Amino acid sequence: MLIPGIDAGNSRFKYAAPDVAGNPTLIANKFGEPFTPSAVFFAPDGSIIVGTEALNAGFADPTRLVVNWKRSMGTDAVLYATDDGTVYTAMDILAILLNDARDNIETKTDQVVNEAVITVPANYTDAQKQQTIDAAAKVGIKAILLPHEPTAAALGNELHKRKNCIVLVYDLGGGTFDVSIVRSGGNVCDVVATGGEPNIGGRDFNDRISEKMLDEFNAKNGFTPSRDDHPIFFQEMIQRIEQLKISLSVQAQSQIVLSCEGKQLAMTITRQQFNSWVEDIAEKTMERTKQVIKDANLDMSSIDEIYAVGGGSMMPIITEMLETLTGKKVSRRCEPHAAAALGAVLGGRLEYRRQGKTYTCGDVVLPAPDLIVHDILSHTIGVLALEQDNREICSEILPSETPIPSVQTKLFKLGEPNQTAVTIKVLEGEGGKNANECLMLGHFDLTDLPPRPDMIGRIEVTFSLDSNGLLTAKARDSASGKTAEMNIDYEHSNSGGTTQVGAA
Ligand SMILES: Nc1ncnc2c1ncn2[C@@H]1O[C@H](COP(=O)(O)OP(=O)(O)OP(=O)(O)O)[C@@H](O)[C@H]1O
Ligand SMILES: [Mg+2]
Repeated sequence: MLIPGIDAGNSRFKYAAPDVAGNPTLIANKFGEPFTPSAVFFAPDGSIIVGTEALNAGFADPTRLVVNWKRSMGTDAVLYATDDGTVYTAMDILAILLNDARDNIETKTDQVVNEAVITVPANYTDAQKQQTIDAAAKVGIKAILLPHEPTAAALGNELHKRKNCIVLVYDLGGGTFDVSIVRSGGNVCDVVATGGEPNIGGRDFNDRISEKMLDEFNAKNGFTPSRDDHPIFFQEMIQRIEQLKISLSVQAQSQIVLSCEGKQLAMTITRQQFNSWVEDIAEKTMERTKQVIKDANLDMSSIDEIYAVGGGSMMPIITEMLETLTGKKVSRRCEPHAAAALGAVLGGRLEYRRQGKTYTCGDVVLPAPDLIVHDILSHTIGVLALEQDNREICSEILPSETPIPSVQTKLFKLGEPNQTAVTIKVLEGEGGKNANECLMLGHFDLTDLPPRPDMIGRIEVTFSLDSNGLLTAKARDSASGKTAEMNIDYEHSNSGGTTQVGAA
């Protein structure tokens, strides 16, 4: 049995597994590609194609191609529906991609894969993590650990082998942006602060070029190709823009040629031009980075090294802005693409040690690594509570940056004397924030309470975070000892009943 590390990227899947000496090694797919495009094509004959072949097939019929699935995780948005009415959500697409990953890994290593470590963005919500576990389970893979991508990337770059070092990990992927500060000292790696923007990734830089190209095409040819009328033009444009962006990471200028209905647009684009188009997007990631450094109570001078990872960090504008922001050079020895998958392999060995299990690679038993990694929660989680003025707020129980795993209990009062039932509504959002501005994670009822006049300190709410940062919420009536537990139905979570707990 083999436990691979899978970096389930919005743009590219990367997989790694330990070699016989335990060193994490990248595994190419069956085509010999080091990374597999996260693309799924639903062929007219009912077959499902994944990766580069899916992208190729998508040229002929883009309507059957699904890419950019990751921002829809945690929702039940339909990304594809077949003629017979079968629908595919992001979770289903991830399941297909994971199945393909397992197939590739098993073929290349000749070992069976039943368990895997799957990386997730540090700012993934509870629902998104749960759906990642569910997607793996759907194809018979047990996700034993969901490490945060920047933490995995830090381990993949062997931060743990550095002595007393504080690293800023800036991870700009295809669909998401994460930033974490990780401190290594002795045999311990602590994530000190983390943050990100779930809606910023390399694809937004491509979209910006697309807008410019369509404007230029119109200015030259008098019409703007539309997605509905010219789907193949769009598919080609997407590919050429990707090539252009990558060329501009290396060269000062590059060419792009587009053609539609016999009309052409041929342009030379300079890196300077490109930078001016995307500057505001890059700037947003820098603002977030600044915030995370502040959250860590650090100043720039205390950061020893900068790891710029994720394909998006290859853009020179990113390196330049990061170096201006921090006054430090971005690390040249950092591996930007495969690091999260490599770090995930180490995560699997650590998780096996935590579970007290023997980790084997083929017939070889690998010793437990002498390393402790502490990650943290990226969002504040609390419950809806009524203030004195009847305002519904989020009363925090686990603030962001709480270490994972953790358990925390907070006491609440009942709303009125002789109350016999209460609904606990679990929210994600800053403490004190209006409840309607927070994300509702779920709710559950504590019923059959004995009617009693005392209200203060009656309801104990306990939140437990497991090693993946997944939440279990429990409530207990301190007067009667009655308990209830939340079972989140992520697809249908709503505001539920009407009686809330009161603050304090
Ligand atoms: N040399 C390069 N220059 C600029 N951008 C690049 C380069 N190489 C890759 N990219 C961009 O990086 C992105 C893919 O990077 P990566 O594989 O790290 O993302 P991902 O892990 O799939 O996404 P996410 O982390 O958001 O889930 C794409 O947007 C791609 O265009
Ligand atoms: Mg990534």
